Amino acid sequence: MSYKNFPMVSKVIFGRGSFNQLGDILSPKRLNATAPFIFFVDDVFKGNAWLTSRIPLSYDDKVIYVSAEQEPKTSQIDSLVEDIIVKYKELPSGIIGIGGGTVLDIAKAVSIMLTNNGESKDYQGWDLVKNPAVYHVGIPTISGTGAEVSRTTILTGPERKLGINSDYTPFDQVVLDPELTKDVPKDQWFYTGMDCYVHCIESLNGTYLNAFSKSYGEKAYSLCKEIFLEDSLTAEESQDKLMMASWHGGMSIAYSQVGVAHALSYGLGYLLGVKHGIGNCIVFDHLEEYYPKGVALFKQMKEKHNIQLPQGICAKLSDKEFDTMIDVALSLEPLWENAIGKNWKKTITRDTLRALYQKM
Ligand SMILES: [Fe+2]
Repeated sequence: MSYKNFPMVSKVIFGRGSFNQLGDILSPKRLNATAPFIFFVDDVFKGNAWLTSRIPLSYDDKVIYVSAEQEPKTSQIDSLVEDIIVKYKELPSGIIGIGGGTVLDIAKAVSIMLTNNGESKDYQGWDLVKNPAVYHVGIPTISGTGAEVSRTTILTGPERKLGINSDYTPFDQVVLDPELTKDVPKDQWFYTGMDCYVHCIESLNGTYLNAFSKSYGEKAYSLCKEIFLEDSLTAEESQDKLMMASWHGGMSIAYSQVGVAHALSYGLGYLLGVKHGIGNCIVFDHLEEYYPKGVALFKQMKEKHNIQLPQGICAKLSDKEFDTMIDVALSLEPLWENAIGKNWKKTITRDTLRALYQKM
């Protein structure tokens, strides 16, 4: 038995208003005057001076606004990298992502592809990256995905929705400022928070579970229950705690895996472009058989926050389209092995998955 030796985020700052220290954090990392810092910022912040006026810009530094309407694509990463290479004489001093899972993953992927040849689709998988990435910083503005702490960056490519999982993927620096999440719309807060909740359930009920994952998963799970089921927290406390729940949920799956909800949600994402948080909710709502207690609690949370999930999104799909989703879901073998065990192929058939998708 050989154990995995994982890197972690090297530096992290936590606290309300810690975003103000970004200039001090970045300045020692500036390579020289012609090697810029590139900031990828969620375009919901365009024109929002409260946030953008605090982005520390000098020399050739640049802010690039990106939409999080759609999740990142390999082609998008390749073109962002190409633009940077064409525009600047040398590699950037750093890539900074300010946003949710989509923007954080863009920052991670761009920083990797600036130092690795070829196309990003060729690096989707496990441990395919050869060279260290450019220095990269993650600053979440919504909590739950765990993208700030994970060893992957999830991309949709021509053939699959799969992450670039590598030792070079984790951020060199993360800024956890819960104040940045204060204006997240309620629906999104719920969907993204539930991504964290689902990470806990899938990790804690998986066959890969170990004391490392369990300690993080249990903490994140209890924080989620406090945030989504109790009325004891102020808005600030709730923001602070959800940011830490996201971190712990992400750490929990680092040393185990996600499970059934993520496998099926990737299928929905690949075929229909359903975003990860809401996709997980749509799927998880139908997984009583796999996670009875977790799903029961999820339904209580949904009720308490008056969340209406989309229904019938697979109602009009063709056989071929079902097959595409099933192919994507089944290809994620580690997820199934974690969820069901080594012999997962005995119970997880194409028919099983088709029946589940047809409920959604
Ligand atoms: Fe997730």
